Amino acid sequence: MPDKIRRLLPLLGHSGGSRDAMTCLYRCGNACDHPVPNTSDNDYLGDVVNAGMSRRGVIRAGAVGGMVLGFGGALTSSAPALAGGTSHGGSHGGGKPVKAGRLTFEAVAPNTADAVTIPKGYRSSVVIRWGDAVVPGAPAFDVHNQTVAAQLKQFGYNNDFVGVLPVPGESDRALLVVNHEYTNENLIFPGFTTLDALTVDQIKIAMAAHGLSVVELERVKRTGEWKPVEGKRLRYNRRITALETRFSLTGPAAGHVLLRTAADPEGRTVIGTLNNCAGGVTPWGTVLSGEENVNQYFVGGDQAPEELKAKLTRYGITTTARYPSDSRKWERAQERFDLAKHPNEAHRFGWIVEVDPFDPEAPPRKHTAMGRFKHEGANVIVADNGRVVAYMGDDERFDYLYKFVSDKKFLKGNSPAARRHNLSLLESGTLYVAKVTGDSPASEIDGTGKLPTDGRFDGKGKWIKLVSGNTSFVPGMTAADVLIFTRQAGDAVGATKMDRPEDVQPSLRTGKIYAAMTNNTNRGVGTNAAVDEANPRNANKHGHIFEITEDRGDHTGTGFTWQLPIVCGDPAAADTYFGGYDKTAVSPISCPDNVAFDSAGNLWISTDGNALGSNDGLFATPVEGRERGHLKQFLTVPRGAETCGPFVTGDDRSVFVAVQHPGEITGATVEKPASVWPDGDFAKPAVIVTWRPDGGPIGS
Ligand code: FEO
Ligand code: CA
Ligand code: CA
Repeated sequence: MPDKIRRLLPLLGHSGGSRDAMTCLYRCGNACDHPVPNTSDNDYLGDVVNAGMSRRGVIRAGAVGGMVLGFGGALTSSAPALAGGTSHGGSHGGGKPVKAGRLTFEAVAPNTADAVTIPKGYRSSVVIRWGDAVVPGAPAFDVHNQTVAAQLKQFGYNNDFVGVLPVPGESDRALLVVNHEYTNENLIFPGFTTLDALTVDQIKIAMAAHGLSVVELERVKRTGEWKPVEGKRLRYNRRITALETRFSLTGPAAGHVLLRTAADPEGRTVIGTLNNCAGGVTPWGTVLSGEENVNQYFVGGDQAPEELKAKLTRYGITTTARYPSDSRKWERAQERFDLAKHPNEAHRFGWIVEVDPFDPEAPPRKHTAMGRFKHEGANVIVADNGRVVAYMGDDERFDYLYKFVSDKKFLKGNSPAARRHNLSLLESGTLYVAKVTGDSPASEIDGTGKLPTDGRFDGKGKWIKLVSGNTSFVPGMTAADVLIFTRQAGDAVGATKMDRPEDVQPSLRTGKIYAAMTNNTNRGVGTNAAVDEANPRNANKHGHIFEITEDRGDHTGTGFTWQLPIVCGDPAAADTYFGGYDKTAVSPISCPDNVAFDSAGNLWISTDGNALGSNDGLFATPVEGRERGHLKQFLTVPRGAETCGPFVTGDDRSVFVAVQHPGEITGATVEKPASVWPDGDFAKPAVIVTWRPDGGPIGS
């Protein structure tokens, strides 16, 4: 980083790394201050089955799933136009050679401004913010007189995942689907003192501010700008909350005795969703959402049945205190959050949720076949053989990467029967966990980030089968055990401990899969797992990107090769790597979190917790050809905020970003905000859109 920029970067206050202490408390229940939940002694150097491993020529997989997410003129029919998309609608390689992307925007400099900063020649606007009306009849937002009834109809707090799905048959209408991961009561309630002092109604307001929102958008005058449709006849607008929405459990573990509670003796219906972090858009036009740090909502773990305690602990739930100091106190509003009384309630969270935004009456579903852990998100690709494959990360230090392969095949076409069929794809299949090895001698991975003599952090990997339908492949665990306690199943088979796997997403251009390892300051520290070639830095502050190439391009197979295309940090530092690109020409990046692609296949990366002292941001880089690793910062978010989303529309004309927890800096309140973005009064999480007024494609 040039000194001139470095001087502009006074350190923001933080604890245990780069995030503010307030974020640590509210977002993940101070996860970094707790012992690492993975105490298994998994070995990194396992034997990797690599029969037939060969470098891919041109990936053809996903040709079915690579249909265009039709924004603009490309939208010609209904359901098929929705296909193609994880977080974008780029058409897949389909056998054609992949062209190198090129990004021509002028990089934004790192900064600590209380503003959104975008490249010259671009524009941005707020699409929707906390408190804005979602459901018809929502009252105007009044922070001093907020009610449960109002929040149930208004946009929730702390927007995270962003998906934008075109409304069939209408090129200028789309559905915005957003996660609301968590609340920060210090910044929501004027006069806040302590969580214990909150009224029960205030706790219910927080519960109503969790969940998801579905908001119908319209394009502004043929530009890349979008805004909410207003009026009373909104067909799709919807709030999904932790307080009242009913979810159906699907898959092999639905109805299992460990999922039954006093309120739900059948074990098939759950009220609410918690801590929804990232997600993905499926090729059949639904949204997946990951339930992540769900542990912090529960108390009473010390009085849970003895045989459950080790299992609860592996999921980060405190079993040594009646009321952990960093819990959210929701048991004061709803007894189910007290495990002393309802020990199975915790098992009903930590799933992948599927929402059909085009059917507001349909209950959202929690898919047990996809396993239970701290789900960051899930992104789907259609394999050559028609099965759908979802890639997933468990966002905790030293936890694992997973994939799910459906039993059934994706059906093309937009008939009601095809859609009904596709809606069942994630209810049955096979769950795998990743085990990886490096190809360089262990002695060359010294923990400093120095490249081994072959010039790359790279190697091979194997997807280890955990469970398929009702058949378990983990000795000593039933299929239901594997699905409900998936972390322990990963431990048992020796999965590779990674540096906090966040968003994992296949590129529909190349079929390669990209996973963000956000950071892990415990790597190689004390008795924690040592470095390995896939997680090569001690006390990894800045994270890295993990790129997977499935053998023979088969997403349903069990072998892969991998590389680290980007090892994040200050490009001037010796421990960083940008695909071999000239490091004087790239932007500093720290703590990659969410990833997305534009239709050219460029990788977009948003950050959470910039440990270089500047605000978080959004970055983009080509991943193929000579420009691979030429990473540039596209925007920055205001003080205290994290950059979430992101989502590039299929026509490349708009990029959406969720600005999460602006002003979340210790000591801040509604009355004394650390950020006044976006309205000049107090901080409000909001979704923004950025576009080019000349109508050109974003980035290039
Ligand atoms: Fe909610 Fe993994 O960040
Ligand atoms: Ca190597
Ligand atoms: Ca995240």
